[in-house]
Amino acid sequence: MTERTTATLGPARTDTPVVPAVRRGSVTGSSRWLRAFPADEDPVARLVCFPHAGGTATAFADLAAALPDDIALLAVQYPGRQDRRAEDCAADVTEVAEATAAALGPYTGRPLFLLGHSMGALAAFETARLLARQSVVARLFVSAARPPADDWQEPDLGTLDDEAVVAGLRRLGGVPEALLAEPDLRAEVLRLLRADHRMLRRYRCEPDTALAVPLTVLLAEDDPKNTADQMRGWARHTSAAHTLAVHPGGHFALTERAGQSARLLDGRIREDLAARTAGPPADLVREIYLAGPDGRPSRLSTDLTTLQESARQVLQPSAYGYVVGDAGSGATGRGNREAFDRWRIVPRMLRGITRRDLGVRLFGQDLAAPVLLAPVAAQTVVHPSGELASVGGATDVGLPFVLSCFSSHSMEEAAAAAGSQPRWFQLYWPSDQTLAESLVRRAEAAGYGALVLTVDNPAFGYRPTDLDHGYLPFLHGAGLANFTSDPVFDAALPPGAGPREAVAHWAAVSANPALTWDRLPWLRRLTDLPLLVKGVLHPEDARAALAHGADGVIVSNHGGRQLDGTVAALDCLPAVRAAVGDGAPVLVDSGVRTGADVVKALALGADAVLLGRPYLYGLALDGRDGVRHVLRCLLAELDLALTLGGCGSVRDLTPELLVPAGPLATPGQTAAARQD
Ligand code: FNR
Ligand code: LAC
Repeated sequence: MTERTTATLGPARTDTPVVPAVRRGSVTGSSRWLRAFPADEDPVARLVCFPHAGGTATAFADLAAALPDDIALLAVQYPGRQDRRAEDCAADVTEVAEATAAALGPYTGRPLFLLGHSMGALAAFETARLLARQSVVARLFVSAARPPADDWQEPDLGTLDDEAVVAGLRRLGGVPEALLAEPDLRAEVLRLLRADHRMLRRYRCEPDTALAVPLTVLLAEDDPKNTADQMRGWARHTSAAHTLAVHPGGHFALTERAGQSARLLDGRIREDLAARTAGPPADLVREIYLAGPDGRPSRLSTDLTTLQESARQVLQPSAYGYVVGDAGSGATGRGNREAFDRWRIVPRMLRGITRRDLGVRLFGQDLAAPVLLAPVAAQTVVHPSGELASVGGATDVGLPFVLSCFSSHSMEEAAAAAGSQPRWFQLYWPSDQTLAESLVRRAEAAGYGALVLTVDNPAFGYRPTDLDHGYLPFLHGAGLANFTSDPVFDAALPPGAGPREAVAHWAAVSANPALTWDRLPWLRRLTDLPLLVKGVLHPEDARAALAHGADGVIVSNHGGRQLDGTVAALDCLPAVRAAVGDGAPVLVDSGVRTGADVVKALALGADAVLLGRPYLYGLALDGRDGVRHVLRCLLAELDLALTLGGCGSVRDLTPELLVPAGPLATPGQTAAARQD
């Protein structure tokens, strides 16, 4: 056996051909072909690993453990081994690729990174080719493997006697002596190697076969079988970027030095993920057209105004009712939309807008766009992953998430999901001051960047939808996580208290109708976090908030959920802005549904907007992906609105861009017409 031959034997690892049951990886529900290792339920990416010849899915157990939890590892299990011992080994690489591509169908909601080791590199390459049309493969990693069009014509192991094959294995290393010494185990090693080599011998690839997927070639410094020159041959198999990453170790360094490999892979994956969202938001439009009807990044409509109806079809009536429910006759909710509709944009032409700047700076924090996710309570009634999925969707696009005080996951869990991304905490000031202090301290400790005190909910509004369903999520245990995880709250419960007592205590302390403005300085002194007061409409209340220590205000009528017949939030915005002057940030929510709405709100004086129900509809329909979809659509539309409106930056939006709906007045008479 030659050196070259042993290189592609892809010798068995300690744990590979003989371990009867799969360790730690579980058979995924959808397919015998994939083993899922423990990871976040909703990871940022999936790494799909293809073992070497004679190898099994368990070869990647250590790598799975070394990767961060938000990168899920799926290992391909070839037939004929371990729990698939009763099946015939695959006849050719195409069979493996086709079955794996099909098995990956349910996992394409997150970017896929394919990683093939030795023979597995060919299977990964062929799988990537099959998935090309779906644009779901973000990168192909190939390790310790010659390029596909090189000579993979292994000597037929069937013609070599066992001693010769075993001698080759011993020269390469990677298979423990104990395995080779014991006759039954050795026979199993040889059976799988021979079968996989039959598959290799049938493999052919044209030299000009190229993927439109970036490629990273992993070369171990001390791999006796592969050289840098040889590995560079992979370059012609991609029309995208190609890099060679050299790392310490031998032929099996990928799996034997799992920590080192995990760092390398994690770094590359994160760079790719960052790059995917780095383009201008309007690129989404191009991405969708290029992908064609079958490759759209989300199956949800890009018309965000239709998502409410779609969400109605998937949600329990009570949960749907809670989300959409307006106060009373719904006049406030309708009025919020009508207020946006009363303003029209008068776009300006030929202003040479080639680049748009959506970024804003608030309280010293740079935001990718002037949009935040509004605090919305009890999100597990909409989706089992609740706020964690919403935080994930927000971080995917780099927008800040405002976590409700009444969230179904604790602020610490939500912060962990947000990682380094910005998040703010919304406080309902409890009647128990020590509990208020505890919540604020925890928010500081968990890295929340601002505190939003909501003041328009001294009591829940009169909401006929919820009343008719007899339904309030909190009474069913949803939305209490920040309380049940709080030591002060816990200490106040009677000994042996169960969920029922927790709900009762929450109901007793969570609202504080006795609050007055003169309590605000206490909160101001409690924390250095920027403090915003949410839920003001009257300009005098905005002034009062700032006078008592707030750093900014959020003009809001709670999305129409509190008091029926309230003035629209947007209609209050110019007066509030005038009352507080330019010094303090003024944000607005209630009724924002489109990118053009964001333009209108900013033109009328807002520094940023908060988006409420639309992202909840995305969450209901498709979890984290649905939230990301909604946010990407909103930002794409905002980005395009700047281009089409003739405005290069969100900071340049002024009232002159808007007119009241109706015929434009004679030139010279309107603000819009006066603009030069
Ligand atoms: C809310 N909102 C809200 N606000 C808040 O300060 N704390 C909270 O816990 C909640 N909970 C909540 C639940 C649900 C189901 C909704 C729809 C809203 C109000 C929210 O922050 C925001 O003000 C409105 O949702 C904005 O209006 P739109 O965008 O929904 O029209
Ligand atoms: C609501 C409260 C929780 O709107 O803010 O339901």
